[in-house]
Amino acid sequence: MKLFLDTASVAEIRTMWEMGILDGVTTNPTLVAKEGRRFEEVLREICALGVPSVSAEVVGTSVEQMVQEGRHLRGLHPSIYVKVPMTPAGLRATKTLSSEGTRVNMTLVFSANQALLAAKVGAAYVSPFIGRLDDQGQEGMALIDEIVQVYENYDFATEVLVASVRHPVHVLEAAKLGADIATMPFGVMEKLVQHPLTDLGLARFLKDWEKVPKG
Ligand code: G3P
Repeated sequence: MKLFLDTASVAEIRTMWEMGILDGVTTNPTLVAKEGRRFEEVLREICALGVPSVSAEVVGTSVEQMVQEGRHLRGLHPSIYVKVPMTPAGLRATKTLSSEGTRVNMTLVFSANQALLAAKVGAAYVSPFIGRLDDQGQEGMALIDEIVQVYENYDFATEVLVASVRHPVHVLEAAKLGADIATMPFGVMEKLVQHPLTDLGLARFLKDWEKVPKG
């Protein structure tokens, strides 16, 4: 399974990229606004690190605006995937952009039927938001199970990108269900690395090593 960071912080991305565990980055307008920096400047810095998949979202709402923005974003760097919302206009824009060879990440997906439509218009990724479903009392992970099954039934090439991940159990459950990608905040990825028994075990090994005769 590929692991993505859901952030527009270049410092966070660099940390995980240098650790060798990062496969991609997803951004959205909210995450970009948090950084207080120009969008394209941030995108260029992320791409310059060598991250092979960087999702950048359009903000236009008409088909024409989305297609125009999508073409522009795609032109910034070959690693850019264009994020398009799951709306009727978004479906039309995705069909156009995909047919031109632009890889589209269809976002704000909350049902398996929406995911089916994303696959039909040729999206490269579909992004179901599981945390936001959990927040309102629906089992987010059940949606991943449904989408994985539907895509397997018809051999769709669209990759399932589990988004709105809130904790490490989400990542584990997504992996068990065979999702292609999970995108998560920096804090969640840090928690995948850490375990208190690893720290305790290492401290004991190092202490015991002091007792070994040297020289
Ligand atoms: O980037 C899309 C998604 O991951 C947002 O997550 O935590 O705002 O629901 P969240």
